[in-house]
Amino acid sequence: MNNNEDLMSKLVALCKRRGIIFQSSELYGGINGFWDYGPKGAPLKRAVEQLWWKYMVQERDNVEGLDSTVICHPEVWRASGHLAQFSDLMTDCTECKKRFRVDQMDDPNVCPACGAHAMTPPREFNLMMKTFVGPVFDEEHAAYLRAETCQPIFVDFNTIRVASRQKLPFGIAQTGKAFRNEINPRNFTFRSREFMQMEMEFFCHESESMDWFDYWHQERWNFYTKILRIPEEKLRIHWHDKLAHYAKKALDIEYLFPFGWGEVEGVHHRGTWDMSRHAEYSKQDQACKYFDQERNETYFPTVVETSCGLDRICLMLLCNAYDEDTADTKKEGMDEDVRVVLHFDPKVAPVQVAVLPLSKKLEAPATELYKKLNNLFRAEYDVTGSIGKRYRRQDEIGTPFCVTYDFDSENDKAVTVRLRDAMTQERIPIAQLRQWLADKIWE
Ligand code: GAP
Repeated sequence: MNNNEDLMSKLVALCKRRGIIFQSSELYGGINGFWDYGPKGAPLKRAVEQLWWKYMVQERDNVEGLDSTVICHPEVWRASGHLAQFSDLMTDCTECKKRFRVDQMDDPNVCPACGAHAMTPPREFNLMMKTFVGPVFDEEHAAYLRAETCQPIFVDFNTIRVASRQKLPFGIAQTGKAFRNEINPRNFTFRSREFMQMEMEFFCHESESMDWFDYWHQERWNFYTKILRIPEEKLRIHWHDKLAHYAKKALDIEYLFPFGWGEVEGVHHRGTWDMSRHAEYSKQDQACKYFDQERNETYFPTVVETSCGLDRICLMLLCNAYDEDTADTKKEGMDEDVRVVLHFDPKVAPVQVAVLPLSKKLEAPATELYKKLNNLFRAEYDVTGSIGKRYRRQDEIGTPFCVTYDFDSENDKAVTVRLRDAMTQERIPIAQLRQWLADKIWE
């Protein structure tokens, strides 16, 4: 096992141990490509989603929000091209019965698992997940779980534009589940079959679309470096050299995962493909076009898309945060000198502040303090175990601030705040604690 594989398996084990992320349906042996977010994973995911929404929708007057259904009219997926083209070329080994994506094999004639020269001719497998709507399970009632969250945005474009009185250029954003029958789910949550996307489609005139592409490229880069504070050297831009026939430019924002560079987001120039296809398939030309009063011109909007995966961002944050410190833990009453710690940015930490009374006798005032904090921050109260053990538990879930209520607190009306990264302590008056924490968390 090399160091990076070792790091991934340690991270997967930590995520399960601490209730961050674990396999779905584990009781039944799990189901490949599906993951559950536990008590410490759900708040992380929600925090990132909220930061994205605030940055992409709430703080902008030219982006509107949407929350559409997962199942749409099946024609949507015919128009988008997913039913005809959204497939991978697969081959099966007739010896070991394993299935592989042809584009991921060194030699499509040799089985990567058992080495046999016994591969079937490549076949297309569609990645759309199928279901049935209504009581009859036949083709007439077939429907699909959305493979990307953007298609309902195109379909709802006109309704949203009219209701919100927006003029072009403007965007529509949504977050939500997407489903793909990935043949080979792998690298923990990186390639899952059910995952969350956060997408924004920006509608504009063709002549301005390249400027908007550059604008959104920069804005999305800033989200990772300035809001999520991922170090720039762990991120890169990968420009697509093979473009879809309708696209003018496309790039991926990639992160250096322990298993190599991997895409977390795509910024795509989609031309007028989506709107013209929906006009053709719905036969609702006017609802897919825009009359531009200033230009006195009716046209299909050109679309610039920003599309990221929430699960991949969470995985990136976990990989970026994971550390084994050789800090001086003895001063905190622990024997070992290595601690596992997640250096989460306080904005995304599942628990932002933990309240730890030094003794059970101090439970009443410590609980009162905890209640003052948990309506403002993601807070946790823990009274069990030595203070050193409690710090370690909080380190493992990445809690940036531990507040210790001790016997002196009764007299000096102050608490000790222990900082996760520096492992130093500060005495803070209780009356100033909420503001002190808010300044550190939202700075
Ligand atoms: N609307 C464009 C679109 O869906 P995509 O590159 O297929 O483009 C966008 O997906 C993002 O969705 C990716 O950058 C990735 O973060 C996330 N994503 C795609 N497939 C995924 C999967 N199987 N598991 C987890 N995330 C995935």
